Amino acid sequence: MDVVLGIETSCDETAAGVLANGKDVLSNVVASQNDLHAQFRGVVPEIASRAHIERITLIVREALERADVKPEQITAIAATNRPGLIGCLLIGLTAAKTLAWAWGKPFVAVDHVQAHALSPGIGMEEPPLPAVALIVSGGHTSLMLLKSFAESQPLGKTRDDAAGEAYDKVASILALGYPGGPIIDRLAKGGNPKAVALPRTWLERDSLDFSFSGIKTAVLYHVHGPGKTSGGLEKLSEQHKADICASFQAAVVDVLVGKTLRAVQQSGVRSVMVGGGVAANSALRARMQEECDKRRIQLHLAQRTYCTDNGAMIAYLGWQMYKRGMVTPLDVTATPTL
Ligand code: KG4
Ligand code: ZN
Repeated sequence: MDVVLGIETSCDETAAGVLANGKDVLSNVVASQNDLHAQFRGVVPEIASRAHIERITLIVREALERADVKPEQITAIAATNRPGLIGCLLIGLTAAKTLAWAWGKPFVAVDHVQAHALSPGIGMEEPPLPAVALIVSGGHTSLMLLKSFAESQPLGKTRDDAAGEAYDKVASILALGYPGGPIIDRLAKGGNPKAVALPRTWLERDSLDFSFSGIKTAVLYHVHGPGKTSGGLEKLSEQHKADICASFQAAVVDVLVGKTLRAVQQSGVRSVMVGGGVAANSALRARMQEECDKRRIQLHLAQRTYCTDNGAMIAYLGWQMYKRGMVTPLDVTATPTL
């Protein structure tokens, strides 16, 4: 049996997971730092790194204990080494490399975005490829054509804000709390998605790129008045806020689903994978399922638990790489960019 420990600290979640044979998630422990960053309405890199240092040993130990796995039973250790906040990446990477060295295990450095892209495959021995992958998180929004495990092609990415970032910024404009995605998802259920006219940015005719900064500004001016950035929030009723959430979410989902279908059409591939924090969104999941069903496209949504940052998805990609002989020398370092 192959047992892989996966460690993730690229942003504000300290996470470790243990996966057996790529199929069985034996444990998936996530320590969120939402409470530490909430007052700043976004992640503060210095605070995030310090929290990772405090928590990493406990989280890894808990993941192994919950999985009931001893170090000698581990086949390989994987950790995110790119992209992300450099101080944060270094904590998980160093912990993983240290354990790999001390326990004499092979080490696999993995790409966080690729791990999100393949996360719908957790539970399957092989990810369902070829596929168009939509990766929607707080740091990234992109479409990729995954032809095989070794061959992928970028199709499009955001030119400004990531989708999750737009959720977080709109929640900040409405003073709803952080992270904004789950709060807006919940409030949108009580709102009218047609109440507020918000733009959908499609860019050029065939473009698979995204842009979410326009909609964020549109929400800002809707709240405060044209060209104004303050003074309007106090006048909004709770229902009006819910209507803004529903209208914003409908616009974002329209574009995410529309561009994914455009990518399917352009590539001729009949399978779609969706991962990343925003893939937990209930409206996106429902709409993507509906549109894919209509067109007989196979949809693989990451399970909700594996959408936001977690160690199981790192272990899954780590295992896919390990069994293909893709191990990483221990002198590898962290890289903040893609
Ligand atoms: O994948 P993730 O944990 O971290 C990054 O790699 O960025 O994604 C976090 C993002 C945040 O922006 C958060 O607001 C968003 O995912 N998010 C959601 C939902 N749950 C988390 N966005 C929309 N709806 C949700 N239910
Ligand atoms: Zn992520």
